[in-house]
Amino acid sequence: MRLAILGSGLMGSKLGTIFARAGHDVVFSYSRSPKKLERLARAAGRHARAGTPGDAAHDADAVLLAVHWSRVDDVLAHAGDLTGKVVVSCTLPMNGDDRDLVVAHTSSGAEELARKLPDARIVGAFGTVPSEVLFDVFARRRRRVRPGLIYYGDERRAKKTAATLIADAGFDPVDAGPLRIARYAEPFTLLVAQLAYEGKGGPELAYRFEHLSS
Ligand SMILES: NC(=O)c1ccc[n+]([C@@H]2O[C@H](COP(=O)([O-])OP(=O)(O)OC[C@H]3O[C@@H](n4cnc5c(N)ncnc54)[C@H](OP(=O)(O)O)[C@@H]3O)[C@@H](O)[C@H]2O)c1
Repeated sequence: MRLAILGSGLMGSKLGTIFARAGHDVVFSYSRSPKKLERLARAAGRHARAGTPGDAAHDADAVLLAVHWSRVDDVLAHAGDLTGKVVVSCTLPMNGDDRDLVVAHTSSGAEELARKLPDARIVGAFGTVPSEVLFDVFARRRRRVRPGLIYYGDERRAKKTAATLIADAGFDPVDAGPLRIARYAEPFTLLVAQLAYEGKGGPELAYRFEHLSS
């Protein structure tokens, strides 16, 4: 697949690198440092390059949205027309200091995104995993039992694309249902973050969710 990475920070840089190493054509975009994007693309290998969000999204089969919630409108304005595109979002609707959700209970970041982009095909995925474990999971992807990773969305074919990317990253894709399930999944990420970063488990706690898929 041709993949546009919108936001090349902790999540975008790692997932983009993993997707490029899995053989997808990846364009890293949306950093304050063009040099960083070039560096990332070089390190990710021959399937990766740096570009602008518009350039990245134009020919993309799928777009990974990996920016802070406060940057969503800006990156979407730069990305241009996303009609018909699969948008896999790991973006969570967090406040400025990343302590609380600013959308919850009766809606979710994923559903708000679908309202912003009514002609795109939104799938929520990767938001429930700390970025620190991503390379490790990818390195162990041939193991028989893989950690489960949930995804949700309203469109069957878009979800199939997301499931392929999840499997390529080394996880077992677990279909959690329609996009509105994001209302429950996004608060769940706060629990994961609490346990991963403030508890004793550390980020590798993500592995403990492997039985989600059994
Ligand atoms: N980190 C995690 O473990 C994790 C896990 C699950 C979900 N998430 C969610 O995934 C999304 C991305 O998280 P992240 O940790 O990858 O974020 P991040 O490291 O801060 O990356 C955000 C990207 O947006 C870019 N950006 C461009 N213009 C910007 C501006 N004016 N101000 C700030 N950033 C700008 C950053 O540029 P630079 O390259 O210049 O910094 C960076 O490439 C968030 O919604 C987060 O809640 C994160």
